[in-house]
Amino acid sequence: MTVAALLVLLTLVTAVHCRRFNPLHHSGAASPFFDAPAQFGVSPSTPSQCAVDQVAYIVRHGSRYPEPGSFAGWQALFSKLQNARGPLAFLPSWVPPVDDIPHEPFFLSSTGAQEAFQLGVELRKLYRFTKGGDNFTVWSAGQQRVVDTATYFTLGYLSQGNYLSAQNENRGHVVTMPDSVNFTFADSLTPSAACPAYSSGDTSVKATVFRRTNQGNIAKRLNQFLDGLTLNATDIGVMQDLCGFQAEVSGDTRFCDIFQDSEWLDYEYAHDLNYYYGSGPGNPFSATVGYPWLKAIADLFSSGPNTTSLGGNFVPPPLIMGFTHDNNLPPIVSALGVWNTSSFPGVYPLSTSHADPRRNFRSSFLVSFRGYVALERLSCDPHDPPRSVQHTSGKVVLGPGTSPGAQKYVRLKINNAVVPLPGCAEGPGSSCALASFRKYVARRAAVAGDFVQRCGLQDAKNATGILDIFTNVPSIIGQSSILTAPLP
Ligand SMILES: *[C@@H]1O[C@H](CO)[C@@H](O)[C@H](O)[C@H]1NC(C)=O
Ligand SMILES: *[C@@H]1O[C@H](CO)[C@@H](O)[C@H](O)[C@H]1NC(C)=O
Ligand SMILES: *[C@@H]1O[C@H](CO)[C@@H](O)[C@H](O)[C@H]1NC(C)=O
Ligand SMILES: *[C@@H]1O[C@H](CO)[C@@H](O)[C@H](O)[C@H]1NC(C)=O
Ligand SMILES: *[C@@H]1O[C@H](CO)[C@@H](O)[C@H](O)[C@H]1NC(C)=O
Ligand SMILES: *[C@@H]1O[C@H](CO)[C@@H](O)[C@H](O)[C@H]1NC(C)=O
Repeated sequence: MTVAALLVLLTLVTAVHCRRFNPLHHSGAASPFFDAPAQFGVSPSTPSQCAVDQVAYIVRHGSRYPEPGSFAGWQALFSKLQNARGPLAFLPSWVPPVDDIPHEPFFLSSTGAQEAFQLGVELRKLYRFTKGGDNFTVWSAGQQRVVDTATYFTLGYLSQGNYLSAQNENRGHVVTMPDSVNFTFADSLTPSAACPAYSSGDTSVKATVFRRTNQGNIAKRLNQFLDGLTLNATDIGVMQDLCGFQAEVSGDTRFCDIFQDSEWLDYEYAHDLNYYYGSGPGNPFSATVGYPWLKAIADLFSSGPNTTSLGGNFVPPPLIMGFTHDNNLPPIVSALGVWNTSSFPGVYPLSTSHADPRRNFRSSFLVSFRGYVALERLSCDPHDPPRSVQHTSGKVVLGPGTSPGAQKYVRLKINNAVVPLPGCAEGPGSSCALASFRKYVARRAAVAGDFVQRCGLQDAKNATGILDIFTNVPSIIGQSSILTAPLP
């Protein structure tokens, strides 16, 4: 082989290696957290002439063990595989990665705890809102894995320094609400459970139809490698879920290697259809249940950090953290009106038969474990900072966003990728001017409609379309209560 040919070969091998397809980035709701790629080509860094002065996140809990029902599927697969032979040789020696059945299924895995702690560390460093110790508060839906995520986040956020001699200066508080109940209405981080009309708009069964066809084809392919054992569609579903789940629980990725890239893309698309038509823009009631959070945050951003002009009894910190479940993130995307418009006709509503690669709606980039939707309020100077700064000894140079001409903007990030608001992305870093953002949110109110009316709650006592948990602690209708983290 000539040197030139060798170089070409090396280049090819490197290129293939670098572009290696990662099934964990295409596993929908079973994906561990990863930064989503910049689908719109915008850098997630804060623009150099701006500083973030207020932010709101709504976050799915971190990686977890399977639900008890899914765990039964793992156990069924385990007994079936005891007969496996042939090229899928690891299968007979595989054991489900759960070693303490009473305490693991349903709850966070240590990876989930790590994801939450790490987000706390990252946001503390990114925004630098909190000095040393602080009385920091976050909000959480009440199920244990969500509260645990909020708690580990808080521990990470407050993990700097040592406060053993002044413990009250470095406490976090987790405000919790009843999870997925129908009596707290929109005043909740799980409002879809309180909207009776919502389930009538859920057509996620479209995903089941798509999934069954593909799983059947995969089973046929794999059964060629097996003697004395026949895999069916159910088994394929469990095995594909195990790629993400087992990677998260024990780091074992052998199930990820069984399937071809196109089989992962079909698996991912079934997740996309499930969320788009179940809780996302394809459910006509999803914007209705996502809107109260958007309205609450828009009001807080209008009022600005540290102000009490909204009334209530509580001033939320500049970093407003809410923790919830996967199905409560797509409604926020619907309320915001993103990932559902395209300059290419025919992309939306999503096709139920084939995955259009031009879609932006990607479940893996939203409802991965610890996935989130974040709105940042930016304060931006009219000009970039000078490239060379003339320091005068003893004179403090003010940071970006502090000049008298600074203007406020709002920017949307989903799993750390910037998503421009359609028609409102003229500001620095594809942000939307705060005044225009308020108008944008008011226009989305027309799409969302009134929560009480649309959901059919006119006759329900105490029914409300307002989310007040951030400014009332405790909230009466939201039935919130406070935990301390760490426990005293
Ligand atoms: C700390 O915050 C909690 C609620 O998050 C509040 O009840 C408590 O009064 C605050 N403590 C101080 C010292 O501000
Ligand atoms: C697949 O086989 C299992 C038994 O191994 C069975 O419980 C399940 O119902 C089957 N699923 C389908 C779709 O046939
Ligand atoms: C999403 O787009 C479809 C197709 O244009 C439209 O019918 C639907 O109302 C949109 N959903 C939302 C929440 O805006
Ligand atoms: C908000 O208050 C904190 C201290 O509690 C302070 O560090 C920060 O500068 C204030 N932000 C604004 C925009 O006033
Ligand atoms: C909440 O659910 C309970 C039990 O299903 C039902 O009796 C009640 O009418 C529901 N309340 C509302 C406001 O929908
Ligand atoms: C309405 O809210 C009040 C508290 O303000 C509560 O005591 C009452 O039980 C609620 N009614 C219903 C039907 O949930």
